Amino acid sequence: MSDFTIVPLDTTDHELVQSWLSAGQAVHEHDSVGLAGWHPVRSLVGLVQGYSDRDEFHWVAVFGGQVIGTSTMNLSTLDNTHMADIEVQVRPEHRRRGVGTALLQRMETEAAQAGRTTMSCWASVPIPDGPPISDSCIGFAAHHGYSDSLTTVTRRCDLDKVDDEELQQLWNQSMEAAEGFEVVVFEGTPPDDLIDGFAYLHGRMYTDMPLGEWDLQEADIDADRIRDWERQRREKGELHLQVAVRHKESGDVAGFTEIIIEGGREHHCFQGDTIVDPRFRGHKLGTILKIANQVRIREWRPKMRYVWTGNAETNHHMIAINEAVGYRKIYNEAVYQKKLS
Ligand SMILES: CC(C)(COP(=O)(O)OP(=O)(O)OC[C@H]1O[C@@H](n2cnc3c(N)ncnc32)[C@H](O)[C@@H]1OP(=O)(O)O)[C@@H](O)C(=O)NCCC(=O)NCCS
Repeated sequence: MSDFTIVPLDTTDHELVQSWLSAGQAVHEHDSVGLAGWHPVRSLVGLVQGYSDRDEFHWVAVFGGQVIGTSTMNLSTLDNTHMADIEVQVRPEHRRRGVGTALLQRMETEAAQAGRTTMSCWASVPIPDGPPISDSCIGFAAHHGYSDSLTTVTRRCDLDKVDDEELQQLWNQSMEAAEGFEVVVFEGTPPDDLIDGFAYLHGRMYTDMPLGEWDLQEADIDADRIRDWERQRREKGELHLQVAVRHKESGDVAGFTEIIIEGGREHHCFQGDTIVDPRFRGHKLGTILKIANQVRIREWRPKMRYVWTGNAETNHHMIAINEAVGYRKIYNEAVYQKKLS
């Protein structure tokens, strides 16, 4: 099949954008059965948002006026300027005809022209007894010289199944180990006296998290960047629930965690970063953070049911906390990576 064309997505062409959304939905419903479900708001708003720390590009494969394949490439501009983060999707009925390859080649060419040397993408990988999601990316990535550089495990917490008494007990025990710390809860932009501490810890996520062979390099995150991320969340209609623990004596942010409730998504929400500063580890702060934020979800959204999180399979401490507060394995995600020569 060579009669399709690859073009940049014109975000002012409403029919094309609608067809782009429809392709995204078709792929999601075919390949991600049993996951969080199709929800277009984030993608749609993201098409027209301005970012201060990355450039985002979209190309589509068009056949007969319809989008049959989509691709997104993100180029970080303030850090990791060697990397191109990509995603490619092809409508199920148009697969194995070279559409994915054409989109991928377009992104690799553009990435190389922009001076990028490492291509990286996330792939869903089914696990035994998990939902019947597709593993199509694995063969496609291998065919194009990409290799698995980091395996992460995605877990889901079913809030209906969490035993509130057990959670309360765990909270009480954990608080006994956390003398000298206080819990601060808020939504959206961190308060002025915490924002620099948040920026520092967000930066540490790039170095403290197990990264396997994935070539993600450190990032210098500052308060302005945090404020810009919050602007983006507001524009997308997201509720951003955050909890910090503060070391009372020094006033330092000892750790934080965040949950993102996407605009208009009623039953599934997503765990973001969780980190405790190495200076303050060993006081059960990770458990305290996770429980404190988990109980807030239903205060805000009483019908919210599932919280999703992903961890490197070697991140044993975080996984132990997640399992203790109710998360269970659903599928794996792997980072596939290729160095451009
Ligand atoms: C992965 C995906 C983009 C491939 O699109 P496609 O248009 O079918 O890919 P191509 O036709 O260009 O495939 C090129 C080669 O990749 C390999 N390949 C593609 N899909 C494969 C699959 N499901 N299983 C094994 N190998 C596969 C084959 O070697 C294929 O060549 P062949 O058809 O001659 O055997 C598509 O299946 C898809 O949208 N999957 C869901 C979303 C996804 O996982 N995206 C990738 C993560 S970013």
